[in-house]
Amino acid sequence: MPAYTLSINGKPTKVDVAADTPLLWVLRDNLKLVGTKFGCGIGQCGACTVHLNGNAVRSCNMPVSSLGAAKITTIEGLSEKGDHPLQQAWEEVDVPQCGYCQAGQIMTAAAFLKKNPNPTLDEIETAMNGNLCRCAAYHRIREAVKVASKK
Ligand code: FES
Ligand code: FES
Repeated sequence: MPAYTLSINGKPTKVDVAADTPLLWVLRDNLKLVGTKFGCGIGQCGACTVHLNGNAVRSCNMPVSSLGAAKITTIEGLSEKGDHPLQQAWEEVDVPQCGYCQAGQIMTAAAFLKKNPNPTLDEIETAMNGNLCRCAAYHRIREAVKVASKK
């Protein structure tokens, strides 16, 4: 098995996995970072969203061999104490229903707010468009991103 040294949540992390193993499974199975979720496995739902050099990407269809020295951040590494403005806003607005899609939603929103710290509701809707929520918590997600942008 090839060995890869990945940069995960600020730490160099060694894993021995097949070259075509998707990052999602390296995170969940090898590193036990299970906050990142499996939804569709084909890049369509956003449940598996993490940051790659600060950009929101889907980890389910990203082979480990493609990562090189890229800096990967998962929901566990978004903030040290779980108090990122989005995480605070999520609690305030009481966003989740089943919760399954939420890590992906927050990671997409975090990358978006870095680029657009003061978005309109329409801009938030467009940015969050690719993250599906089967509980249809879209209204609260939008509201929480707006609340976080004011923090
Ligand atoms: S699990 Fe990756 S986009 Fe759905
Ligand atoms: S809160 Fe259930 S899928 Fe989004």
